[in-house]
Amino acid sequence: MLQTIKQTADYIRSRVEGEMPKTAIILGTGLGALVDHIDNKQYIPYTDIPNFPVSTVEGHSGNLIFGTLGSKRVMAMQGRFHFYEGYDMKQVTFPVRVMKALGIETLFVSNAAGGMNPAFEIGDIMIITDHINLFPEHPLRGKNYNELGPRFPDMSEAYSHRLIKHALDIAKEKDIRVMQGVYVGTSGPTFETPAEYRYFHIIGGDAVGMSTVPEVIVARHSGMEVFAVSVITDLGVEGIVEKVSHEEVQKAAQGAQPKMMEIMRELVSRF
Ligand code: HPA
Repeated sequence: MLQTIKQTADYIRSRVEGEMPKTAIILGTGLGALVDHIDNKQYIPYTDIPNFPVSTVEGHSGNLIFGTLGSKRVMAMQGRFHFYEGYDMKQVTFPVRVMKALGIETLFVSNAAGGMNPAFEIGDIMIITDHINLFPEHPLRGKNYNELGPRFPDMSEAYSHRLIKHALDIAKEKDIRVMQGVYVGTSGPTFETPAEYRYFHIIGGDAVGMSTVPEVIVARHSGMEVFAVSVITDLGVEGIVEKVSHEEVQKAAQGAQPKMMEIMRELVSRF
């Protein structure tokens, strides 16, 4: 495992011109166009990268992108690996291990999610304050490499309070409506039944999605600071659960993209 991470990191380093970034961004469903705001881009297709899984799902192009966002050097993942695609958790989180090996210190994550909090509207942005991990497999199960992180990692502040505060300040400055809440990570690929949405809300969730939690766990295991946001693309609120499709999720995510971008760009370049 350690050798594989090193091999992949060495390859990426050999392909990138200029300084290595300390900040990485994982772009979620329908949010890949955020890369349009990254300047001086260098693309590395996942298919070129040794040991990298290849993304299969519609709407997720697979590229590692290096460039500048605002004034900061960043590395972005355009397309991520989902558990429901059939990858195991070590594969899903492998890119985060590689990021750490490349010197990444801060990880920004975005995703599309279904809202269960009755105050939410489609197109809202939810800053993730905490998560509930309901994936059936844990990314840290198995042998622990102390070089990568501790056996029993603390999760009391998975999502950086410092970055959340700055994001709220930025949203206020720019007059962007942002919600905050708990993200429930589940395997998918089915969207939830009305009873499941209700259940996830009762246990403390405000939004539910099929990603993010594994990557955040590994990022925290490796000591990175994490900030994550969901775009609420559909509602699983009692009485108003409607049919959900991947197309609708993508459309709603795209609609919210400019708001999300403004917050992310400011946050990444300032902090
Ligand atoms: N459930 C799970 N994942 C999702 C949803 C949802 O309602 N919307 C977008 N991703």
